[in-house]
Amino acid sequence: MRELDRNLSESPTFQRCAIVGAGRLGHALAAALRDAGIEVEGPLGRGAQPRAEVVLLCVPDGEIQAAAEATAAQLVGHCSGATTLDALGDREGFSLHPLMTVPAGAKAPFEGAGCAIAGTTERALAAARGLARALRMRPVEVADADRAAYHAAASIAANFLVTLESAAERLAATAGVPREHLVPLARAALENWAADGGEHALTGPVARRDEATIARQRQAIEERAPDLLDTFDALVAASRVLAEA
Ligand SMILES: NC(=O)c1ccc[n+]([C@@H]2O[C@H](COP(=O)([O-])OP(=O)(O)OC[C@H]3O[C@@H](n4cnc5c(N)ncnc54)[C@H](OP(=O)(O)O)[C@@H]3O)[C@@H](O)[C@H]2O)c1
Repeated sequence: MRELDRNLSESPTFQRCAIVGAGRLGHALAAALRDAGIEVEGPLGRGAQPRAEVVLLCVPDGEIQAAAEATAAQLVGHCSGATTLDALGDREGFSLHPLMTVPAGAKAPFEGAGCAIAGTTERALAAARGLARALRMRPVEVADADRAAYHAAASIAANFLVTLESAAERLAATAGVPREHLVPLARAALENWAADGGEHALTGPVARRDEATIARQRQAIEERAPDLLDTFDALVAASRVLAEA
């Protein structure tokens, strides 16, 4: 029996893996896996040939196929949220997407984070689950057909939230109110949503059905930041649906 088979049959978490791609996620995952007691090779750069039988690709989405083709490992995984398993070709493989934002040079808080996993075989899926659990993340299997919707949800939850807060910051600045004053409000709204869900957490003029105030807000945006009007209108419409629920 080869080493990997022995490892996976003994425990859901194998003891050794290589990371290819020495960027933000590659560095963070290598450090976290080492902290979890897993022997890690890398993060390795282009052209390196890992010795480990399990290889985790932390390369840009468009490079996954080429990087997978370049490795001879038994099991290859990628870390992209939007990419399906097809990118691994006909290799036995898996995907493992931490639902966490990982900036450059920072230790990422993987513990407690969600983690979308998928595998071309039960063994590959078990490898993904084992890695996620070793990092104390919460693995959830996401099928290829659901991948784009799942990733869009992640973008809305994190990326668009930042875009939205930045829009609020711009508008507040026109009234002489700095960002720090918005932060406790934004945190409280997020915590309320996390605890109770959107239907209970929504407050403000839309929840109160205060049409006069919504109209005054809209007029102020038209005067001070007209490029935000479409976003405002779309969010008012979406908030009305939530308020009805
Ligand atoms: N960062 C996050 O918050 C985050 C979170 C979850 C998932 N992810 C996923 O993680 C993956 C990597 O993202 P990232 O943010 O870590 O990207 P990144 O910081 O841009 O790092 C990518 C690294 O891969 C290297 N690379 C590119 N092509 C390669 C190849 N063929 N062989 C070996 N190395 C190669 C790049 O080297 P060069 O500089 O030489 O090109 C770079 O060091 C993506 O699939 C992304 O969707 C990222």
